[in-house]
Amino acid sequence: MEFSIKSGKAEKQACDCVIVGIYESGKLSPAATSIDQASNGFIANVLKHGDMDGKLASTLLLHRVPGIQSHRVLLVGLGKSGEAKTSCYPKAVSASIKALAKTGTKHVASYLLEMDLPKECVTWKTAQFVEAAQDSLYHFGVMKGQATQKDQSKKEKIVGIDIYVSDVSAADAAETGLQQGLALSSGVSLAKDLGNLPPNVCTPTYLADQALAMVKTHGLTVQILEREEMQKLGMGSFLGVAQGSVQPPKLIVLQHLKGKKTDKPVVLVGKGITFDTGGISIKPGAEMDEMKYDMCGAASVLGTFKAIAEMDLPLNVVGIIPACENMPDGNAIRPGDVLTSMSGQTIEVLNTDAEGRLILCDALTYAEKFEPALVIDIATLTGACVIALGHHASGLFSNQDTLAHELISAGEQALDRAWHMPLWEDYQPQLDSNFADMANIGGRAGGSITAACFLSRFTKKYHWAHLDIAGTAWKSGKEKGSTGRPVPLLTGFLKNRADKLNN
Ligand code: BES
Ligand code: MN
Ligand code: ZN
Repeated sequence: MEFSIKSGKAEKQACDCVIVGIYESGKLSPAATSIDQASNGFIANVLKHGDMDGKLASTLLLHRVPGIQSHRVLLVGLGKSGEAKTSCYPKAVSASIKALAKTGTKHVASYLLEMDLPKECVTWKTAQFVEAAQDSLYHFGVMKGQATQKDQSKKEKIVGIDIYVSDVSAADAAETGLQQGLALSSGVSLAKDLGNLPPNVCTPTYLADQALAMVKTHGLTVQILEREEMQKLGMGSFLGVAQGSVQPPKLIVLQHLKGKKTDKPVVLVGKGITFDTGGISIKPGAEMDEMKYDMCGAASVLGTFKAIAEMDLPLNVVGIIPACENMPDGNAIRPGDVLTSMSGQTIEVLNTDAEGRLILCDALTYAEKFEPALVIDIATLTGACVIALGHHASGLFSNQDTLAHELISAGEQALDRAWHMPLWEDYQPQLDSNFADMANIGGRAGGSITAACFLSRFTKKYHWAHLDIAGTAWKSGKEKGSTGRPVPLLTGFLKNRADKLNN
């Protein structure tokens, strides 16, 4: 798919389809108005007959509109004018791209930058346009048989989208947005692919190989720690989880060092359980396939590294990915086992299905070695977080309020939201154990909070935030698939930070 920034009148574009917006009030966007004038009131007539009411994300495809150069015109509903919310924008974009994907359209001219959103600039709108368009065209087909793949590639038709600015003076801002949107969507798309791959392909070794492949293409340094090295470091908690699987565990360390030498790095830690059976505390069978998505935290770290590398972001960022499987086996850890973590703290394993925190705690201790400015971990950590927040917001926990607020606002800007959850001392006693420094579970009440409390015991030496993405990293049901979240939030956060440090 090729995107480019253009300017010019909607009625003059000789392409397969022009996309223009219509508001719920019946008000036409400027481009719709100029097509309406060139066509002697064609659009006004369509609206008069009630075929399009301007409801957000509704679409109507028109053929043979007189007096214009394009073969088609797609009317897209922009909702109520004047009170459009920012989050409406990608919905309108996505609806229009999806409507055209079913037609013979190859070359598109979009005038959706015109949508009036008082708070958003041209750069933001262009980046969001690209991201929403790429998101709606995303398709995971690599595991389909050859016949199906051929069939599918015949169906993929849109090859170019020209994004029109209302005035040439806005072209530079739009171009900046285009580059940002492309970098971000390539990171999102990597995260989606890794999540969607089956767990027999996407193993810890596969994740390590993907990171290594980015060394050549994206100028990062990557180091893979094997079991023996992790034993020497004393990562008894991580290795405890890994010991029930025939797949060797990997600790993947990525470094993007494009900031000033003296700037301390931001460290991203991603949960990389490539399949979570629950271990000996085995999960019920229903929907267990979805536990291939238990490495989406890891995928979001790799996706974010891809995006910031493509943006060439002037910032120091370290990524740490503990990757292993959680399997039941003769050698697997048992409920009642006590593990000694790299921090020296001991952990009574009361449920082998609470494995995410067991691998993260050692990775979080390992993070100290980089003298981080701050650490963010990203994990599909608890079903309880899905119960608390559903599928719209990721859960955010932090030991530092400024960091929490920066992440919340980056999420709002990127339309990839997180919600601030409590991390009060009051919850800590739920982790008491009679046999070790702590238990790995804290009971049913506040399950996502006690999981965060567990992690907080390993992050005392730095500013830290934890994103529980159990409800946001993938979709279930008919639309089953990885969302690529929270790559937009993380990339936006890092970009804001780079802007601040370098200005
Ligand atoms: N990977 C799961 C969390 C999860 C479950 C994410 C369902 C999305 C959907 C995690 O390892 C897990 O199993 N957590 C347990 C913790 C419990 C045993 C304290 C859970 O949430 O049930
Ligand atoms: Mn589990
Ligand atoms: Zn898990």
